[in-house]
Amino acid sequence: MLQAHMARKTRKNQKKKSNRQKRKPVVSITAATADKHVLYQQSVQDADVTQEFVDEIWASHREDKAMRMREDFCGTALFCAKWVQSEPGRTAVGIDLDRETLDWGIEHNINPLSADAKKISLLCQDVLDADVSSKFDVIVAFNFSYWVFKERQTLLQYFKRVREALDENSVFIMDMHGGPDAQFEMEEPTDMGEFDYVWEQAEFCPITHNTVCHIHFHFRDGSKLNKAFTYEWRLWTMPELRDILMEAGFSRIDTWFDEDDGTDEYAICETTANMEAWVAYLAAWK
Ligand SMILES: C[S@@+](CC[C@H](N)C(=O)[O-])C[C@H]1O[C@@H](n2cnc3c(N)ncnc32)[C@H](O)[C@@H]1O
Repeated sequence: MLQAHMARKTRKNQKKKSNRQKRKPVVSITAATADKHVLYQQSVQDADVTQEFVDEIWASHREDKAMRMREDFCGTALFCAKWVQSEPGRTAVGIDLDRETLDWGIEHNINPLSADAKKISLLCQDVLDADVSSKFDVIVAFNFSYWVFKERQTLLQYFKRVREALDENSVFIMDMHGGPDAQFEMEEPTDMGEFDYVWEQAEFCPITHNTVCHIHFHFRDGSKLNKAFTYEWRLWTMPELRDILMEAGFSRIDTWFDEDDGTDEYAICETTANMEAWVAYLAAWK
C-alpha cells in the first residue's frame, strides 16, 4: 500500500523503531494536549536521514562539501536546523508563507541552537518571490510541497528561479510520489506509539490530476485531531517534472529511486520495474 507522505522508507522504518523505544506508557497525549507541529515532525520528517541523503546526492557529482542550503516550503525549518549543525560553516535559508508555522519553528527548532541559530535566516514569503542574487549549493523542496503549483507555467517559473539562485554545478533536490495507488482515495494509518498518523487521499481528479490530502492524528483515548493539515495539490508525473526541469535549463536530472530490491537504498536509476506506490527524488543539476 501507498506510504504517500513518508519521504523515505528508511526514514520511516527508523522512525517507527525509535518511537517504539521512546514509548511512554503512563501519560498519553490527547487531541486536547497535542501540538500538531510536534506530531508532524515525529511522523513525517527525519532530518538526520534527510541530511545524510542530501550529502549522498551531492557526493554523487561533487568532491567538496555543500555549505549553503536553501529550504523552500520549510515549514518549521527542522531541516535548516539540522543542516547548520551537521558541518561547521554551513548556513541555511528557509522560506515559507506561513508566519505561524515559522514562528513555531523559531521557538522550537532555531532558538534552542544558541550560537548556530545565527547561521539560519527564515523568510516569510512566497518561494516564487525568493531573491535570486544570493547563490546556494543546494536548494531543497521536500514533502511534495511544490505540488501547490498546479499550472505548468507557474511550476516552470519556480524551477527557473530556483536554477537562477543556484551556484554553478549546484543542485535542486525535490521528492515526489506516484504509482497507481497515488490516484485512489484512501486512508492509511501508521502506528506512531502514542498516536496514529493517518494519511488520507480524499480526492483525485483524473482530468486535472488535482488532489486533496489530509493528515489526521488519532490518539489512544479515542480523541482525534482531524484535518490537522490539508494539502490541495496537483499530482505531477515523473516525465512531466523531468520535462519542465529541462525546459527550465537544468543540465542533468538524476532520478533517485528505491527499486524495492530488499536493500532499502536509493540509487540513480534510468528505468525501473512498475510498482503500486513509490517515493522518488529528483536531483536537478545546474
Ligand atoms: C507539506 S509542508 C512542508 C514542510 C516541510 N518542508 C517538510 O518537508 O515537511 C508545506 C509548506 O509549504 C508552505 N507553502 C505553501 N505554498 C507556499 C509558497 N508558495 N511559498 C512558500 N511556502 C509555501 C506551507 O505554508 C507549508 O508550511
